[in-house]
Amino acid sequence: MDQRPLGHTSLSVSHIGWGTVKIGRNTSVKFPEAFELPSEEEAVAIALGMLDLGITLVDTAPAYGLAEARLGIALAGRRDDVVLCTKVGETFEDGKSRHDFTGDAARANLHQSLQRLRTDHVDILLVHSDGRDLDIQQETDLVETLEQMRQQGLARTIGFSGKTPEGARAAMDWADVLMCEYTIEDRSHETVITQAAEAGIGVLLKKVLGSGHLSPEAALRFVLHDAPIAPLISSVVIGSLSAERMRGNLEMMRRQGD
Ligand SMILES: NC(=O)c1ccc[n+]([C@@H]2O[C@H](COP(=O)([O-])OP(=O)(O)OC[C@H]3O[C@@H](n4cnc5c(N)ncnc54)[C@H](OP(=O)(O)O)[C@@H]3O)[C@@H](O)[C@H]2O)c1
Repeated sequence: MDQRPLGHTSLSVSHIGWGTVKIGRNTSVKFPEAFELPSEEEAVAIALGMLDLGITLVDTAPAYGLAEARLGIALAGRRDDVVLCTKVGETFEDGKSRHDFTGDAARANLHQSLQRLRTDHVDILLVHSDGRDLDIQQETDLVETLEQMRQQGLARTIGFSGKTPEGARAAMDWADVLMCEYTIEDRSHETVITQAAEAGIGVLLKKVLGSGHLSPEAALRFVLHDAPIAPLISSVVIGSLSAERMRGNLEMMRRQGD
């Protein structure tokens, strides 16, 4: 698959990335249908199937329940084949999300993520915002903590996954990478994505299928081809429990590009 530069970082990522929520968590999520969590063995097989498709960007988070630990098993021996993205600020334990955007909590989050992922560094470390995008950046010591983590080599790049264009704009002051929601139905981040990409910040898109609520064909054509920002995007992260369905998405992408 097409590999694209991640802004001005030294990393490249597959044009389609894989989002791992569904291998780790099936409660308090916004998918159209309830689903069973895969077993550990099934989750590992799904992950390896995604890599076999040429996907190199794998997006996860402590908030995705079992996902990091399952990836740690799947990626043993394959760590260098992937650009691994995780997050700080939200954890999910005993069926409940908890947010803490202090530097101390971020250090604890990353320490645990590295153990679960069985690695000594992640490639991308993002703030997992709960929507208080400006307060998190302006009223806590989180940004300076992320900068220290990058300096210590625990994260190769740092960035922000938020909910508002204002939050993304504020993060342009310090982030290497932004993860933004952008769909055929919600183009509110279009201007800030353009500005960020022009400034050399790597831009990742999330929820491009509206978490499964949009027509996949139309939604993908928009973000991969028709949207004015399509050429500026490093990777479009798609969540799926099925490497076969992901293969279908890649075929759709190729057909649409013809
Ligand atoms: N705050 C944050 O940082 C944040 C928030 C949300 C998401 N994310 C990241 O972005 C990723 C993607 O977001 P998302 O998973 O919420 O939503 P999404 O990628 O928009 O949609 C995923 C849903 O679409 C379904 N799907 C995929 N391909 C399909 C196809 N060809 N036809 C029909 N359905 C299809 C998947 O079902 P199947 O499993 O059945 O294929 C899944 O239920 C997440 O996994 C996560 O990594 C980050």
